[in-house]
Amino acid sequence: MQEQNNIQEPKKRMLSGIQPSGDLHLGNYLGAIKNWADRVNDYECYYFMADLHTITVRQDPADLRRRSINQLAQYIACGLDPEKNVLFLQSHVPAHSQLAWVLNCYTMFGELSRMTQFKDKSAKYANNINAGLFTYPVLMAADILLYQPDYVPVGEDQKQHVEICRDIAQRFNSIYGDVFKIPEPLIAKTGARIYGLTTPDAKMSKSIPDGCVFLMDSPDDIRRKFKRAVTDSDTEHCVRFDKENKPGVSNLMNIYATLTGKTIPEIEQEFEGKGYGVFKPAVGEVVVEHLRPIREEAERLMKDKAYLNDVYIAGAEKASYIAGKTLRKVYKKVGFYQI
Ligand code: TYM
Repeated sequence: MQEQNNIQEPKKRMLSGIQPSGDLHLGNYLGAIKNWADRVNDYECYYFMADLHTITVRQDPADLRRRSINQLAQYIACGLDPEKNVLFLQSHVPAHSQLAWVLNCYTMFGELSRMTQFKDKSAKYANNINAGLFTYPVLMAADILLYQPDYVPVGEDQKQHVEICRDIAQRFNSIYGDVFKIPEPLIAKTGARIYGLTTPDAKMSKSIPDGCVFLMDSPDDIRRKFKRAVTDSDTEHCVRFDKENKPGVSNLMNIYATLTGKTIPEIEQEFEGKGYGVFKPAVGEVVVEHLRPIREEAERLMKDKAYLNDVYIAGAEKASYIAGKTLRKVYKKVGFYQI
C-alpha cells in the first residue's frame, strides 16, 4: 500500500506554438507564453515556432529566418527552460507536414469554410487566398495530435482551431479506434484576449504597431504607447471595468490585473478619483518592469547563436521521436504498406 502511494502519476502533456510571422507582443505573452511558463514544473511541455504556418501569407525569407531564431531566445527568456521543455521549430520535424496530408483527407471542405480566421485573412489578403490559408487548421491539428497532449494553452482567438482539431481527431478515432488523445483547449481567465492600445475593438496584433507592445520594445517606447492608449470620453476619467462602454479602459485593467494578480475591484479602488492621467502611466510602468528582465535576457541569448542552434537540434530530436511514434501508428491504421 505504502509503495503504491509512492508511485508518481505521469505528468500531463501540454503543447502549443506561435507563428514567427512578426515579433512577439504582449498579446502573445499574456494570452499564451505566460501561461506556459507558469506551468513548466507541473506538465510535460512541447512548445514550437509554427514557421510552416507563416508562409500562408508572403514572408520576407531573411526576416522569417531571423525571427525563427530570435523567437526561441524570447521563449527561453520568458521562462521556458529548454532543459524542462521541448522547444523546437515546426519545419525541423517533417512529421507535421506528413500527418497534415493524411488529416486533410479526414477534414471536410464545409468545416474549413466556417473558420473565422480563414474568412478574416482571405478578406485581408484578397490577392493571395491560397490553399494553405484554407487548410491551415489541418496543419495545426497535425501539430497538436502528433504529441497526444492533454491540453493546448492558447488565447481565445485560437479556440475554434482547437475545436476543429478535436472534431478531426474524433472522426479519425471513430474509424480506426483510439489513435489520438482528444485535447482540451486551455484558455486563461485573464489575458486571453488583449486588444490593441489604439484599437480597443480589435485584438492586439503586429499589423497595428502603434497599439502593439512588443516584448523587445524599449521602456521609453512602452511608456509612450501606454500614454497614447485610447480610453473614452468620460469626463470624470473613471477607472471602471465596463467592456461595452469603456473597452479601452477595460483592456488596460485586464493587462494590469494579469500582470499584478490584482482583482478588478482592487484596481478600481486603487485608482478611484485618480483619473486616466495617473492610470495609463501606471499600467505602462508595470509592463515596463515585467518585460525588462525578459528583454535583457533575450538580448543576451540572441547573441549566442551556437547555443540557440543546439537547443533547436536537441528539441527537434526529442519532438521527432514522439511525433514519429504517432505518425507510424496513423500510417499503419490507414493501410500504408510498412517495410
Ligand atoms: P498566433 O501565432 O497568431 O498566436 C500565438 C498565441 O498568442 C495568442 N494571441 C493572443 N492572446 C491574447 N490576446 C491577443 N491579442 C493575442 N494575439 C495572439 C494566440 O491565441 C496564440 O495562443 N495557429 C496558431 C499557431 C499554432 C498553434 C499550433 C497553436 C500553430 N499550430 C498548435 C497551438 C497549437 C496561431 O496562429 O497563433
